[in-house]
Amino acid sequence: MLYGKPLFTAVQIRKRVEELGNQITADYNGEELLIVGVLKGTYMLLADLSRAIKLPITVDFLALTNPTNDEDYLPRIITDLREEIRNKNVLLVKDIVHKGETVEYLRKSLLLRQPKSLKVCTLLNKVEGRKKAQQLDYIGFHAPDKFLVGYGLDYQDKYRNLPYLATLEKK
Ligand code: IMP
Ligand code: MG
Repeated sequence: MLYGKPLFTAVQIRKRVEELGNQITADYNGEELLIVGVLKGTYMLLADLSRAIKLPITVDFLALTNPTNDEDYLPRIITDLREEIRNKNVLLVKDIVHKGETVEYLRKSLLLRQPKSLKVCTLLNKVEGRKKAQQLDYIGFHAPDKFLVGYGLDYQDKYRNLPYLATLEKK
């Protein structure tokens, strides 16, 4: 049986997301911001983070191919943004950055569209096994080298609805 052992509680997540929202609000200093959430993992985070940002924001989403377990995961956009991003301040929001391929691919793809600025926010940063450093502007939590589920993150598309973040363990 698989079960989740709580790692970050709902209260800890709420507090940290609130802090990220305050930091983002201060950094953009009244400017307009387009928040781009990567589906499906960020659906819960975006609901909370967008409410914690006190700026004129718009929200959009894109979806990627599913990650594979092998080394050569090539992320591709399968559902694209509805909004144009040219000349806009874009904040790309991820659930977790692990090896960094996904965020690197997204950064390159979005920069080709010439946004005014592009920053990256991730709820979780798991650095084990990362070969190339990634610029991450806002980080919620540093994650251990374990598989995490909940608060949007899945294992085989399940566990997303856990209101907290848990390590998935086999028992
Ligand atoms: P990357 O290794 O940074 O390219 O991340 C690839 C993708 O793997 C992420 O966008 C997540 O969807 C998924 N992923 C990586 N680590 C975890 C985890 O601990 N739990 C759930 N999904 C994960
Ligand atoms: Mg997943």
